[in-house]
Amino acid sequence: MATLYFFSALLLTVVVSVPINVSGSAYCGPVEATNKDLVQFPLNLEFLEAEFFLNSALGHGLDAIEPAFAAGGPPPIGAQKANLDPVTRRIIEEFGYQEVGHLRAIITAVGGIPRPLYDLSPQTFAQLFDKAVGYKLNPPFNPYSNTVNYLLASYAIPYVGLVGYVGTIPYLANYTSRALVASLLGVESGQDAVIRTLLYEKAYEKVWPYNITVAEFTNAISSLRNELAMCGIRDEGLIVPLRLGAENRTESNILSADSNSLSYARTQPQVLRIIYGTGSEYRPGGFLPRGGNGKIARSFLDKA
Ligand SMILES: *[C@@H]1O[C@H](CO)[C@@H](O)[C@H](O)[C@H]1NC(C)=O
Ligand SMILES: *[C@@H]1O[C@H](CO)[C@@H](O)[C@H](O)[C@H]1NC(C)=O
Ligand SMILES: *[C@@H]1O[C@H](CO)[C@@H](O)[C@H](O)[C@H]1NC(C)=O
Ligand SMILES: *[C@@H]1O[C@H](CO)[C@@H](O)[C@H](O)[C@H]1NC(C)=O
Repeated sequence: MATLYFFSALLLTVVVSVPINVSGSAYCGPVEATNKDLVQFPLNLEFLEAEFFLNSALGHGLDAIEPAFAAGGPPPIGAQKANLDPVTRRIIEEFGYQEVGHLRAIITAVGGIPRPLYDLSPQTFAQLFDKAVGYKLNPPFNPYSNTVNYLLASYAIPYVGLVGYVGTIPYLANYTSRALVASLLGVESGQDAVIRTLLYEKAYEKVWPYNITVAEFTNAISSLRNELAMCGIRDEGLIVPLRLGAENRTESNILSADSNSLSYARTQPQVLRIIYGTGSEYRPGGFLPRGGNGKIARSFLDKA
């Protein structure tokens, strides 16, 4: 169904969001967790971003910079140095170091967790992009082959951290933790904005060799994330129908936000449904083949 919908949407070059959450039932409310567990949970995303950005920009990851942070967890599978233009490479390198700082801040505040196993191989991204467009891309999408592909692959990552932080802050009882997470949110949203801006400049260009524009890819990825998380629209691409644009007055959507242009929030299960790529917080896969670590992520896996 979703597949057909995407395909016809692309054929007609109509920019649409897929209707979501039509079947199945998903819990969209908050989880019960301690302050510490809530602050540790985002380590699952911060490790992912650190490894993806550092490896892509430098050809080495966290273990070459702050090996102790991994707390004995395995290095990622399949991460590669990406073929980036010089400006993008410098930006991504900086983002990578920023994630190292975020890891340090969280570990210092509440203690760490072992780095989970990540799969950052081109195949993982190819599967995600196939799922997003609704058919097998030929050749398979490779995040590391050029700057636009890399930015599209990155579009698939920090935004989930951002909405996770927005979703976490209201449930933090501890003032120190709220201050920390607010500051993490600030930088994550900056990273997301930079990635979206770089993509926005190319919104109507085709992503070679596919007959799909940059904007169409972002809409497809955002729709997939909405579909996987199963809790309504909390993710929007770069060009949207008027009803999703700021004040319903523009189709331009350089930032993804709600009808009052406030950031969307996601809960931990929604984040897991997305990064596992399975639509289920109980079923690991995608970037986290063995699932996330920390009390919240493990609590679902132990029940599976
Ligand atoms: C590419 O897609 C456009 C619509 O987005 C369509 O009109 C055109 O026929 C397609 N071209 C090819 C070669 O498939
Ligand atoms: C659908 O999403 C809404 C939030 O938009 C949520 O409240 C509801 O529980 C979801 N329903 C199902 C069946 O997933
Ligand atoms: C808040 O958490 C910090 C550790 O991050 C701890 O030192 C402090 O005692 C906590 N404050 C309260 C009021 O629980
Ligand atoms: C824009 O449209 C949405 C629904 O389509 C509505 O909820 C919202 O109030 C509208 N915003 C304005 C400013 O008219």
